[in-house]
Amino acid sequence: MRAAVVGQGYVGVTGAVALAQQGHRVVGVEQDRERLACLRAGEPPEFEPGLIQQMTAVLRTGRLEFVEDLPDAMVADPLDVVMICVGAPPAADGTTNLSEVLAAVEEAAELVGDPLVVLRSTVPPGTSDMLLAEYPELRQRFVCNPEFLNRGDALDGWQAPARIVAGAHHPPAVDRLRDLYRSVSCPWVTSTPSTAEMIKYASNAFLATKISFANELARMCTGPELNIDHVVQGVGLDPRIGPALLQPGTGHGDSCLPVDTAALSHWAADLGVPTPLIDATVRAHAQQPAALLNLLRESVGGHLLGLDVAVLGVCHEPWNDDLRFAPGRALLALLQEQGAAVRVWDPGLTPDELRHLAPSATTHAALPSAVAGAHAALVLTEWPQAVEADWADLAARMREPRVVVDAKNCLPPVLLHQVPVDYRGIGNRRPMPEHAATDSVA
Ligand SMILES: NC(=O)c1ccc[n+]([C@@H]2O[C@H](COP(=O)([O-])OP(=O)(O)OC[C@H]3O[C@@H](n4cnc5c(N)ncnc54)[C@H](O)[C@@H]3O)[C@@H](O)[C@H]2O)c1
Repeated sequence: MRAAVVGQGYVGVTGAVALAQQGHRVVGVEQDRERLACLRAGEPPEFEPGLIQQMTAVLRTGRLEFVEDLPDAMVADPLDVVMICVGAPPAADGTTNLSEVLAAVEEAAELVGDPLVVLRSTVPPGTSDMLLAEYPELRQRFVCNPEFLNRGDALDGWQAPARIVAGAHHPPAVDRLRDLYRSVSCPWVTSTPSTAEMIKYASNAFLATKISFANELARMCTGPELNIDHVVQGVGLDPRIGPALLQPGTGHGDSCLPVDTAALSHWAADLGVPTPLIDATVRAHAQQPAALLNLLRESVGGHLLGLDVAVLGVCHEPWNDDLRFAPGRALLALLQEQGAAVRVWDPGLTPDELRHLAPSATTHAALPSAVAGAHAALVLTEWPQAVEADWADLAARMREPRVVVDAKNCLPPVLLHQVPVDYRGIGNRRPMPEHAATDSVA
């Protein structure tokens, strides 16, 4: 099939590459000229493991090209599918800014022919029906098909998704989508467009709630007899619960979970439907940076003024450079507000990006120089360089009280046992000798 993928952000570019890999002829449409130039030069503007290699491979086959406007995608041949992957960011009043979606659907409606229009962007329930009321000519050939990808394994998510959700008013439109995804085998959920939109919001709200639940469990694990690692392991092994995202840490992470959870809460409030659980999840996420800062403050004796703090990682995860709502941003701001002298290290970001995020911090390209002379290190990202570092060497470079706050519970407690640092993980996680770790796991 010949498909145009409108919007070459993270979702669009991974989708365009994956569809081309599945044998379709794909035109990626991107209105941002800088981004378009990168794409045409074969450089994905977003980081995702394996993306550059797979993009290079499909570009060589000639099945993937990039254009600036949707009508340009029709020049060579007609289109079978227009897949809309544009942004739907939060507006200042808590609603969802649908201007990119509206513009893209309008462009799709104006095309000659009858391509299937697939809405991949995350939008509030009722959006597709609002669009179809505006463009009734699309009703027979429109599917709301939300994207559920997970950063770090997005390309696998395209080849082997857990499910495909297709919301349409006209079953033949779903049949056309099945044709597009014919090489993918997974369960399908077919429904109305509004239900499809709700499934996406509900999934992200549930995942966000799981993270906040793990953070709350960690807060309860205060005594030496309570081990948060084993609590989440023991809970997550129940197949009714599952281990994914049941981990304490910095919070909901990249843009999707916090934005979609807040948007769902806002959408329900507009309907007059109380959502105490979802609201609590939103509040719990907003409180997590302050809770982590408290952990640091308590570890250093009560105040941060004049303290040298090395922030190790700003990205939410090593494979996730979406900084739009990364909790590291809030933590950097709080640390500086409270008078700490901040140095920052993140091997996934350029010095310019780091300076932009924390203008008054000093930036470091190497981990040893970031911690040298610091009173405390705050680990926010599970970078292998930090997890596998020689912490005895790093500790020797630090200054008393040599506190290490592990906001991701990612440093190995056994390795830290012999190291002269005051290590604090979330949920009272402490260094432990190897035999104790082995005993407790057994
Ligand atoms: N990022 C994720 O991990 C993720 C996961 C699942 C779902 N989603 C949803 O998918 C959608 C896209 O997410 P994203 O992170 O890729 O968005 P993004 O905002 O990073 O990228 C959107 C891109 O679309 C381009 N664009 C906008 N209108 C255009 C038009 N008319 N023609 C051509 N290009 C246009 C923009 O220039 C931008 O590059 C959002 O609704 C998001 O909520 C995102």
